[in-house]
Amino acid sequence: MVARVLEGLDVWKVYGKTVAVAGVTIGINKGETKVIIGPSGSGKSTLLRCLGLLERPTKGRILFEGTDVYASKLDLSKLRAKIGFVFQDPSLFRHLTALDNVKLGLRRVLGLSEDEARRKALEALRLVRMEEWADHYPAQLSGGQQQRVGIARAIAMDPDIIIFDEPTASLDIELKWEVIEVMRDLAKRGTTMLVATHELHFAREVADEIIFMDHGKIVEVAPPEEFFKRPKTERARRFMARLLGGVTGW
Ligand SMILES: Nc1ncnc2c1ncn2[C@@H]1O[C@H](COP(=O)(O)OP(=O)(O)OP(=O)(O)O)[C@@H](O)[C@H]1O
Ligand SMILES: [Mg+2]
Repeated sequence: MVARVLEGLDVWKVYGKTVAVAGVTIGINKGETKVIIGPSGSGKSTLLRCLGLLERPTKGRILFEGTDVYASKLDLSKLRAKIGFVFQDPSLFRHLTALDNVKLGLRRVLGLSEDEARRKALEALRLVRMEEWADHYPAQLSGGQQQRVGIARAIAMDPDIIIFDEPTASLDIELKWEVIEVMRDLAKRGTTMLVATHELHFAREVADEIIFMDHGKIVEVAPPEEFFKRPKTERARRFMARLLGGVTGW
């Protein structure tokens, strides 16, 4: 049986007169990597925040492992702990080392012992190839290294899914790669991932499905080889042409 981790059913999010998400239905199964792409303002971040239980949809349902989150009496903060988030800016605590940044949630949210938290944090830092930097402070790390610590912080909590919102958007091209490689490792290890990104190499190599959004709606859903070879909709074709503008052979 397919295990559905997260599902949004006819999700709407309206801010005043802005309809950020306009009736999106989406599901992510255990072990899948789904990639959302779309123009700026198309509602990607808003949808991710709704699915990640950071924002309540104006209308529609969010199901976490089959349970309707807002119709049930489940403890939202407990559910949120099962969903990892990686944003564009990792927002590490400046006064804490990489290790202590990763340990924080393990101690405070999961209530692990010092030894156990340390063990899990080091294991997560190893997975993102940052074990050697455990004792460094954020200011001593590059943007890519900081982002990898941010990913370690998410992994360490053993979430059921990790949601990435343009995790490489603020990094220089050479720093992007180290983050993308780590994300690729995670996807290949079977981590359940929902990723908004414009990193087409990553999307093409590891996505099980590409979801193209525009104006708050899902316009096209396709396996990467189909989507990149032959987008079905004119809007996706135009977006890809702009994104790839001048880039060949990727
Ligand atoms: N908190 C908010 N209050 C008011 N409007 C918002 C809020 N968050 C998002 N919006 C609006 O909703 C729309 C969708 O924004 P969103 O950030 O989800 O798009 P996006 O696809 O993530 O864009 P980008 O690629 O630039 O990150 C935009 O018009 C945005 O201005
Ligand atoms: Mg966004």
